[in-house]
Amino acid sequence: MSPIVELKDVRKSFGDLEVLKGVTFDVNRGEVAAIIGQSGSGKSTALRCMDRLETIQGGSMLICGHELHDDDVDLKSLRRDVGIVFQSYNLFPHLTVAQNIMLAPRMVKGMKQRQAREIADTVIAKVGLREKMDCYPEQLSGGQQQRVAIARSLAMEPKLMLFDEVTSALDPQLTGEVLRVMEQLAADGMTMILVTHEMAFARKVADRVIYMRDGKVHEMGSSDILRTPATPELAAFVSESAEH
Ligand SMILES: Nc1ncnc2c1ncn2[C@@H]1O[C@H](COP(=O)(O)OP(=O)(O)O)[C@@H](O)[C@H]1O
Ligand SMILES: [Mg+2]
Repeated sequence: MSPIVELKDVRKSFGDLEVLKGVTFDVNRGEVAAIIGQSGSGKSTALRCMDRLETIQGGSMLICGHELHDDDVDLKSLRRDVGIVFQSYNLFPHLTVAQNIMLAPRMVKGMKQRQAREIADTVIAKVGLREKMDCYPEQLSGGQQQRVAIARSLAMEPKLMLFDEVTSALDPQLTGEVLRVMEQLAADGMTMILVTHEMAFARKVADRVIYMRDGKVHEMGSSDILRTPATPELAAFVSESAEH
């Protein structure tokens, strides 16, 4: 299997604060990797670096064939290959669901209205919201808005999807519907890296679990490491998470 994501000794600082202190891991095509760890351990920063929303100061990062440590990386082409979804959905309130989804294919890929609409129809079906195409975001629940945000990313036909705590703002019931969409994406073979607090989900869906601690990968392996952690730190983290 060929890695679609390769991080080697990645370092990232904000001013004097070193946030990523040499992060190394690979993700293969079709794999689901879950990044877990305490708040402040650098999970979001690592993810943001993978879409070059942040630049790195050391090491190397190869994402879908793009060398992100190069200054002349083609950002447009990178962003076409990588979709990213955040905790906040950031849908445009004045656009319908269909218009939100069609925007990037039209603007970034220069697609014709009809073709963009076809893609929108396909991706909205994937997230189970076909009947909401002409609604405005405010007419949808938080879980539905997050599913539209996922559909909007999928409309760019990415090779890699990044998810940063996409269910953290949602009630347990709405969390479930978003996780089911992500599980289906995984089953369809999408390569995904997700930062999550949902341990049960990570255990079920992740091929690889990456436990970050203080800007480093502290422990990594199959989801079995959540059952039988090798380090006392991951053991403590897993048992703390189980209490919530
Ligand atoms: N834009 C920024 N400027 C300065 N410090 C930042 C910035 N983004 C994150 N940090 C700091 O980097 C550290 C890691 O943050 P983050 O990657 O968001 O952690 P996590 O997602 O694991 O909670 C924290 O100490 C945070 O305060
Ligand atoms: Mg975070």
